[in-house]
Amino acid sequence: MPDTAFNMKSYEEELKSFSWEISKKELGYKDGDLINIGWYCSDRICNMGKGEKLALIWESFKGEEKRYTFNDMRVLTNSIAVYLRKLGIKPGERVCLFMDKIPELYFGFLGGLKMGAIVQPLFSAFGSESLFTRLDDAQTTAIITQKKHLPKVRNILEQLPSLQYVIVVDDDGSKPLREKEYAFHMAQEERIEEFEIYPSKAETPSVLHYTSGTTGKPKGAQHVHYSLISQYITSKYVLDLKEDDIYWCTADPGWVTGTSYGIIGPWSNGMTQCVSEMGFMAESWYKFMERHKVTVWYSAPTAIRSLMKEGNEIVKKHDLSSLRHLASVGEPLNAEAVLWSQEVFGKMFHDTYWQTETGCIVVSNYPGMKIKPGSMGKPFPGIEATIVDLKTFLPLNKTGVVGMIALKPGWPSMIRSYWNNEVIYQGKFKNGWYLCGDRGSIDDDGYFWFVGRDDDVINTAGHLVGPFEIESALIEHPAVAESAAVGKPDPVNMEVVKAFITLKKGFEPSKDLELKIMNFVRKKLSALAMPQEVEFVETLPKTRSGKIMRRVLRAQEWGEEIGDISTLENDM
Ligand code: WT7
Repeated sequence: MPDTAFNMKSYEEELKSFSWEISKKELGYKDGDLINIGWYCSDRICNMGKGEKLALIWESFKGEEKRYTFNDMRVLTNSIAVYLRKLGIKPGERVCLFMDKIPELYFGFLGGLKMGAIVQPLFSAFGSESLFTRLDDAQTTAIITQKKHLPKVRNILEQLPSLQYVIVVDDDGSKPLREKEYAFHMAQEERIEEFEIYPSKAETPSVLHYTSGTTGKPKGAQHVHYSLISQYITSKYVLDLKEDDIYWCTADPGWVTGTSYGIIGPWSNGMTQCVSEMGFMAESWYKFMERHKVTVWYSAPTAIRSLMKEGNEIVKKHDLSSLRHLASVGEPLNAEAVLWSQEVFGKMFHDTYWQTETGCIVVSNYPGMKIKPGSMGKPFPGIEATIVDLKTFLPLNKTGVVGMIALKPGWPSMIRSYWNNEVIYQGKFKNGWYLCGDRGSIDDDGYFWFVGRDDDVINTAGHLVGPFEIESALIEHPAVAESAAVGKPDPVNMEVVKAFITLKKGFEPSKDLELKIMNFVRKKLSALAMPQEVEFVETLPKTRSGKIMRRVLRAQEWGEEIGDISTLENDM
């Protein structure tokens, strides 16, 4: 395929002529029409005559493979939708997906949308406490899970009166199910040819993704079906997905990349995707791409850095000549990683920047556009991005000066609110700009450069972890009096969690206690949230009003200037 035949012909041209109407027209959607993501990803592709095209090539941990055509997907998502409807789940109710990367997760997502539910995907590695916080906040009605994760649900079921249905997709009858638990077997269900899809409209809620903030509970980012308009066209223009591609998105649908670009974008474009249940392993990743002749690969800096660590020799052992386009998201993509990928794959990773809240890629490097390694690229046509002053929140209109990355609201996939938290949502807008919570600058050529986050949220391996959730878990440990969680630099994960802890009377710092505390958090929350290091301290730096100044601890970890500490109450 000649390199010039990109879906987006020229960035400069597209800037002049682009409008979201292009996407709507391609999707056959007119304002006011019904719009259901589940239908667009399966039925519509079948209606276009591609029912026999492969939608999903799936591999289990053990290497067992399953293949599904768009027609299979259409029928199986119908079966799930019927099952949920018959159980008594109503449109607008939350259905949580709590599974590893198995076909039921992908089809459950689309099936839930087809019957009008708000789907709430959660990372299956979450422990009971992380799960509880998010199910409680969303007042979730049903959860679809696997036997192996059932104990975590059972732990908290009694404290969740709204949770009425626990659906187990791989129950083998070996242990009896309890009250409120239901066995569902996708492969044995009746294949439903015709399903009356819920008549969702543009503003009908679709996906509820939980994202971490600095204070308080994680926030439910509320997406609507209309998000499809941006997810479809960005998949086409940024990921450059084409008819014959074999696409691999390495993200888990528990996070937004795994849904916007692991489900909605590619399938609404009628793409063949492959999915592997396995986590990161260099050799297996290369083998997987070789076996399936992956052409477009969307991954994350943490994975790329891990691959770099494994060296170049291992790459050469595999035939990866099928790869034609590589993209990355989640954290800053180091210039070294971009250059390395050019060296070993003959292709540069294209950095893309966006957030759970934006629903789609907002700043990016486009196929065919000159890449400046280390830069996030330029705003997607149709999205206005700028850098605003840190204090006035007005556009700086100056190049090379650091401010806050801000976006002009109005693109289709922006979240419509945080679940039950309109106040925090509104607080993200200043002077008509949506503030991303990140700092950056623009250079003379209009390229965006990422500088860092503007808050205390920790970005570990491309996943945001809120310090508050970790600190709340920490103080539940009997030895912990007070705690502060901050990100500390890490060569592979960018940041890992470090916890500063003051101990209660009668407890002494020790290696053993450190390990116990780490494990305590891992079990409650997840391995991501687990501190990789615990430092026992006498006191924590606080403001006069009693707020922990994580900024001070963070600066210490990063060897940075501490900045203004005039409100600091105590000396460290
Ligand atoms: C935050 C959003 C959207 C999918 C993954 C994360 C950071 C994201 C980049 C990038 C530097 C990045 C930002 C952003 N981030 N992409 N290309 N360069 N930082 O979604 O969990 O909502 O996190 O991830 O800090 O605000 P998320």
